Amino acid sequence: MTGCQQSDSGQQLASDNGETPGAVDGGGGGAAGADCAGDQTIAGAAGMIAEGRRTFRFDTFGDEAFWGGELGLHRAIAGRDNGGVGPGVSPNAALALGLKVDAAALPPELVDKIRNGEVDLDDPAVTIALLQLNAVVGVTGVFDDAGAMTGVGIQCALCHSTVDDSFAPGIGRRRDGWANRDLNVGAIVASAPDLSPFAELLGVDQETVRTVLKSWGPGKFDAELVLDGKAFRPDGKSAATLIPPAFGLAGVNLHTWTGWGGVSHWNAFVANLEMHGQGSFFDPRLDDASKFPIAARNRMGHIRRDEDEDLITPKLAALHVYQLALQAPTPPAGSFDPYAAERGDTLFEGKAKCSGCHVPPLYTEPGWNMHTAAEMGIDAFQARRSPDNRYRTSPLKGLFSHSKGGFFHDGRFATLLDVVKHYNRHFGLGLTQREMNDLVEYLKSL
Ligand code: HEC
Ligand code: HEC
Repeated sequence: MTGCQQSDSGQQLASDNGETPGAVDGGGGGAAGADCAGDQTIAGAAGMIAEGRRTFRFDTFGDEAFWGGELGLHRAIAGRDNGGVGPGVSPNAALALGLKVDAAALPPELVDKIRNGEVDLDDPAVTIALLQLNAVVGVTGVFDDAGAMTGVGIQCALCHSTVDDSFAPGIGRRRDGWANRDLNVGAIVASAPDLSPFAELLGVDQETVRTVLKSWGPGKFDAELVLDGKAFRPDGKSAATLIPPAFGLAGVNLHTWTGWGGVSHWNAFVANLEMHGQGSFFDPRLDDASKFPIAARNRMGHIRRDEDEDLITPKLAALHVYQLALQAPTPPAGSFDPYAAERGDTLFEGKAKCSGCHVPPLYTEPGWNMHTAAEMGIDAFQARRSPDNRYRTSPLKGLFSHSKGGFFHDGRFATLLDVVKHYNRHFGLGLTQREMNDLVEYLKSL
């Protein structure tokens, strides 16, 4: 960057001299051969990625006022022996609920003690200590000066991060963007002593709220429940959907299973309406009282806070950039048969017609990536809980990282072979068993 300095002259288009491939910014600079404004753009983007990562991992957007303040979730975590209620959540219990521990946040002495079996992983006080170290992925404890836990908040990383299990199952290095399919969000929320905010919103008693939350199971969450109050599908099964990965999204137009909007729409939606952070949100589509009775009644599409009290909006730009920067992980060597995958690739773009919708290398349509339930050969229940009544073509990169819990929005297909069999039937593709297996190996290779 030597020789780069700010210039106020407006005639540096010549600085785009072709020596810096990919440079698109013709302004600024002027030193021999240097594309200073272009460099500043890249440095600025790197700064946004770092800031967005902090937000994704650690920002609660002030939601501790809800999870701690209103629901008292921290009291259930602490347990009665530590000033809370109930048995408390020990580290082993937390891991069983799918919570993950960031090994990088553990001091070396503690790591040694855990290795030597000197830490009681059945003691909720140890969970409190882990929260004090900021070591529980996606969960932040609030502590007073005396070290007592007075609240708890959640982050994006709670649902959209796992760890690599390098230390022990559930304990390791962070993997931002991976869907946490072990996480039992419903069971965690159900343990809160006071569920009256949900009971009042949904117009039911707290026991009903608890029953609904417990019906979700691991890896699932129902983002639409607080909008339409629908807890179960017509067939009686839970209305919750799988937690999707939050990587590999750059270039993809609409997001979420049912294409609610772009990343920045959904981030504002989730931070305000689901995490209960303190910000502003506008979406008049939620005024549709026949589709979203609860959202319409509570004017959820019209949340506005003054600029100096808005803890979400100022963070959306960097968070957006970070989301787009998260790339899908590469499948581990040996996790698929490369020869079969190559044959599967040919089928994907040929006889099986998959690339008609899953257009490589995005694996979704460039453009309006939405399809009706009838096109997909599945029921319309979840599609109808969204503004466009459709399902979004899922980007397929990194499928291997979220095979737990099944595929499609509600995990209705337990395996990739089940997905392919469904397409084979629905589209009348006439694929042989071997061809279907080849397609599966290809999907595992993405
Ligand atoms: C309680 C769990 C939970 C938390 C916390 C959460 N999400 Fe999500 N996220 C979900 C679920 C479930 C969906 C799918 C929703 C749907 O389709 O209705 C989703 C969808 C998404 C998508 C769309 C992915 C795709 O396939 O297109 C993005 C992006 C995303 N979340 C980012 C975030 C960010 C950023 C945050 C923090 C501001 C966040 N999420 C917080 C559970 C969560
Ligand atoms: C008409 C467009 C269309 C075609 C053709 C199509 N898909 Fe899909 N695909 C979708 C949509 C839409 C979804 C999301 C369905 C849902 O969430 O319920 C999806 C979901 C998937 C998923 C699940 C992703 C996840 O995260 O759970 C896989 C795997 C998949 N498709 C593979 C294929 C294969 C293989 C083919 C070819 C045999 C194919 N698709 C053909 C539109 C299509």
